[in-house]
Amino acid sequence: MCGIVGYVGKNPVLDILLDGLEQLEYRGYDSSGIAVKCKDNINVYKAVGKLKNLREELTPHAYEISKSTSGIGHIRWATHGAPTVVNAHPHTCNCGNLVVVHNGIIENYVQLKAKLEARGCVFRSQTDTETVAHLIALKYGETKDLTKAVALATKEVEGAYALEVMHNDEPDKLVITKRNAPLIIGIGEDGYYAASDIPAFIKHTNKAIYLSDNQIATLTPQSLKIQDENGAEITPKIEQLPWEPVALSKMGYKHYMLKEIHEQPDVIRNILVGKLHTSDSPVKLDEVKLTKENLKDLTRIQVIACGTSLHAAMIGKYLIEDLCSIPVDVEASSEYIYRKTVTDSKTLVIGVSQSGETADTLTAIKQAKEKGSHILIITNRPDSAMAREADSLLSVNAGIEVSVAATKSYIAQLTSFYLLALYMAEIKGTTPADVLKKLKSEMLILPQKIEQILANKEHIQKCARKYSSTRDFIYIARGINYPTALEGALKLKEISYINATGYPAGELKHGPIAMLDEIMPVLSILMKGSVYEKILSNSEEARARNAQMIALTNSDDSKLENLFDFIIHVPDVDEMLSPILAIVPLQLIAYYIAEFLGKDVDQPRNLAKSVTVE
Ligand code: F6R
Repeated sequence: MCGIVGYVGKNPVLDILLDGLEQLEYRGYDSSGIAVKCKDNINVYKAVGKLKNLREELTPHAYEISKSTSGIGHIRWATHGAPTVVNAHPHTCNCGNLVVVHNGIIENYVQLKAKLEARGCVFRSQTDTETVAHLIALKYGETKDLTKAVALATKEVEGAYALEVMHNDEPDKLVITKRNAPLIIGIGEDGYYAASDIPAFIKHTNKAIYLSDNQIATLTPQSLKIQDENGAEITPKIEQLPWEPVALSKMGYKHYMLKEIHEQPDVIRNILVGKLHTSDSPVKLDEVKLTKENLKDLTRIQVIACGTSLHAAMIGKYLIEDLCSIPVDVEASSEYIYRKTVTDSKTLVIGVSQSGETADTLTAIKQAKEKGSHILIITNRPDSAMAREADSLLSVNAGIEVSVAATKSYIAQLTSFYLLALYMAEIKGTTPADVLKKLKSEMLILPQKIEQILANKEHIQKCARKYSSTRDFIYIARGINYPTALEGALKLKEISYINATGYPAGELKHGPIAMLDEIMPVLSILMKGSVYEKILSNSEEARARNAQMIALTNSDDSKLENLFDFIIHVPDVDEMLSPILAIVPLQLIAYYIAEFLGKDVDQPRNLAKSVTVE
């Protein structure tokens, strides 16, 4: 889960590579490097840490690179070998004539390394990638043709890779290939781009080709040739990308996370267009390819996801079981793939993923597909590997999410689950029409209600300031908002590094209550409905242990004033829809605490946006 970018063309390459890497920083940011074709050599520059360190490293070399018009770059999230300069990409062969950047994992690198060392290759790094540099260089020695060398070398490589390769003896040529890792070619007016993701080149072109597994592309400033693994030339399909470069700007917000939190009302509006018009019309989900009979035949649903997407999935379970009366299991993908699961053709398997690339979820989906299940994918990336496995594809259309902490994609996943549950309930006739009508009419006004919460953000900011010096934080809830407590806690820990935990409120007294004292903040998610009184009494239990009590509520119950030290109000909403409103103040609390603490909000330590390793 690193980011790679490359360019061959007529324009100076340095800014193209650095700007491209900046847009790929969400994929990792522990070190970076570039290789550029200079007068006589391919020069390599690397730095540990954020991209700004590489920019500084390059400053004294700016003149010698200024005329270069071809090169490759890499931004790393370390898997094999610590984040050091030696382990940073690009990697080179013994003589330094061949340079490679790689995203993925070479699974047979130990065996390859032993073979290559026996043939005289000298390894400098602890990475799996260096094996590829030496291997392609040996093949180049035999063929004197970079494309052929890459083709021969990759036949010996096992694992996942997107590779970009240059050789000093074939200046202005970039050879790229991929297997189980994304790689996209951008077709510009003045040259060709190649990158792990579209943001790396969208400001230069919106024409692109998605390379398929095992295809090899040879790019020069004037030409593009794509071959399959047997060497046969392929006529590529050129796609017009529906992307705007402006999506990648902060639009005046201090951080992408804050901007993305504010985009949430429009994200819901966009999803509802064409799917839910009025409370009187049925939900339209043409994307779901299950027939009425298939739906009626389903015996169970399994939902597989990781992290924030897993929390959206947990809310999906409440909705589907309640409205559609189908049993739903939710499981972390990493657990699903290593046990015997009861998955069959009468099971609908739903994979949820913002990126559509998460390795654990992708593997789980593939396993379920082999067992004959219908695969429904809920993703923000209809161009992703997961989307390609889908029998039904629900694209959540949240737009690019840059901040590592997922916010608007979560709201989009929730909205999609509501639509799916309503749609299935309407087909199966499992919930009275008046209940569905009420839910639909409330859904249509959720965006305005989120806007009201955002308009009240100064109050939430005060709450964040008040508790920003805490070392621990507890979130409690019951029922459909239990996953909201988990998600609120995840947001806080990932960007502020505070130890935050979500509990079902009824579980507090079975152990966690022992941690409570006068400095421990406990945030109760107290939404009116079936479990309101229960959470209230669980909150009383916590108050009795002198905890700092915070309420997140849509109730104007006067009892709350005495029980809580701080109250955050959200607009009134049906209990079933309340997770969509309740999460917004929790996102803001996490954001403001991290900001007060001076943390790197958009790029928290040790994380990456797209987790393409198991
Ligand atoms: C948290 C977060 C992660 C992701 C998780 C799954 O804010 O972003 O927990 O939710 O890595 O990623 P996707 O949804 O891309 O499969």
